[in-house]
Amino acid sequence: MTIEKSYRTVIEPFIIKSVQTLRLTTREQREQYLKEAHYNLFKIKSQHVLIDLLTDSGTGAMSTEQWAALMRGDESYAGSPSFQRFEESVKDVFGFKYVIPTHQGRAAERILFSVMCKKGDVVPNNTHFDTTRANIEYRGAIAEDLVIPEGKDPKKIHPFKGNMDVRKLQRLIEDVGAKKIPLCMLTITNNSGGGQPVSMENVKEVKKVLEPFGIPLYFDAARFAENAYFIKLREGGYQDKSIKEIVREMMSYADGCTMSAKKDGLANIGGFIGTNDEVLAQEEKDLLILTEGFPTYGGLAGRDLEAIAVGLQEVLEEDYLRYRLAEAKYLGERLLEIGYPIVQPPGGHAIYIDAKTLLPHIPQSEYPGQSLSAELYLEGGIRTVEIGSVMFGKIDPKTGKETPAEMELVRLALPRRTHTQSHIDYVLEVAKDVYKNRENIKGMKITKQPKFLRHFTAEFEPI
Ligand code: F0G
Repeated sequence: MTIEKSYRTVIEPFIIKSVQTLRLTTREQREQYLKEAHYNLFKIKSQHVLIDLLTDSGTGAMSTEQWAALMRGDESYAGSPSFQRFEESVKDVFGFKYVIPTHQGRAAERILFSVMCKKGDVVPNNTHFDTTRANIEYRGAIAEDLVIPEGKDPKKIHPFKGNMDVRKLQRLIEDVGAKKIPLCMLTITNNSGGGQPVSMENVKEVKKVLEPFGIPLYFDAARFAENAYFIKLREGGYQDKSIKEIVREMMSYADGCTMSAKKDGLANIGGFIGTNDEVLAQEEKDLLILTEGFPTYGGLAGRDLEAIAVGLQEVLEEDYLRYRLAEAKYLGERLLEIGYPIVQPPGGHAIYIDAKTLLPHIPQSEYPGQSLSAELYLEGGIRTVEIGSVMFGKIDPKTGKETPAEMELVRLALPRRTHTQSHIDYVLEVAKDVYKNRENIKGMKITKQPKFLRHFTAEFEPI
């Protein structure tokens, strides 16, 4: 079905069939909840959140077709037809020869890097997502972010800010030697850099640099369909191609991928590794059995595999993708009108507020993103996430000194097919009040933190 394109309003291309009640809280209650959570929004109970924009991961609504498919779920330990349908759908969209199911993206990462990486290796990426970086570093390897300079400048308008700096990649290979680079990754879209896409041209260029050295290219494909739609809209020669054709072309340049099906799999849980390498696939399956499960379920229930099989096809629908990008654009453009500095242009799955520019009175050492995030919750019960120095600040293990992240962002992630436009309008109203009061927002200090992935559990206090 194609919706009449001549109308300006991009509608949600679905109706609501089942609802989940939201409950309002008072400001006094939210003040209390924030204190109890030590100003870390990961520690707030979700029933105390009104609009949850913490993540677009596993938080979307499934379609009636997906719910119907759940009932087909076959829970056999080995050789389930649900796995066959899952495998067929993944192969149909991605084209890889071997498909290894995992319970989510990071499990795919852990297995992939366990098999491919050793201590001292270097893995380049446009920008590693936090779990990707953590899994590489856990192996004793080094995660290098090589996004183009435009990708680090929130104000800069560029159609493909997720692109990798190909010259930097070339230099890295020359500097450390190809033997130390077991694989190169491209995150599509580039989540930590603002949900920005990678162009097909860039994928081809990266491949061209890697090929003579025999370095495999892997996609972190969590938001592959959104990336493909950006290519269709913005890159010459792709306007008349279907999303599936674009995805297949992207994947044709890769040797494999890791995937979190909680994003563009339109499922609540799941992931996989795709690869064309038979030997690697076997090693990965051996490891899979150790922690995830037998290779025909990989830590998932048969019904989850069914939901992903359907989700991977639905996510390719252009009506869906048009609405998806329109929602982010609507939120982004109106935040700009209020005066918010945001990462431009709006990405696919989220809007990122540049908290460093918004709150110049809060130094990076006092985590302006964390402060803004807490304020949006306090003001209107909106949950967002800091993607700045709390998440990516580097602490020198010897001196304890902290190097801040390059950007101090607050992400407003949009769960798929979940909120209506009035929810977004409410977010904007709250954001307007927070903006008016921005000069009174105070910085934060960390009072307690774990050794890695500290943003999930660290505790804070306003200064
Ligand atoms: N890669 C990217 C680009 C991601 O955004 C995520 C998760 C992962 C890998 C890991 O996948 O969660 O299934 O284990 N991102 C979520 C987020 C958590 O909020 O952006 P996972």
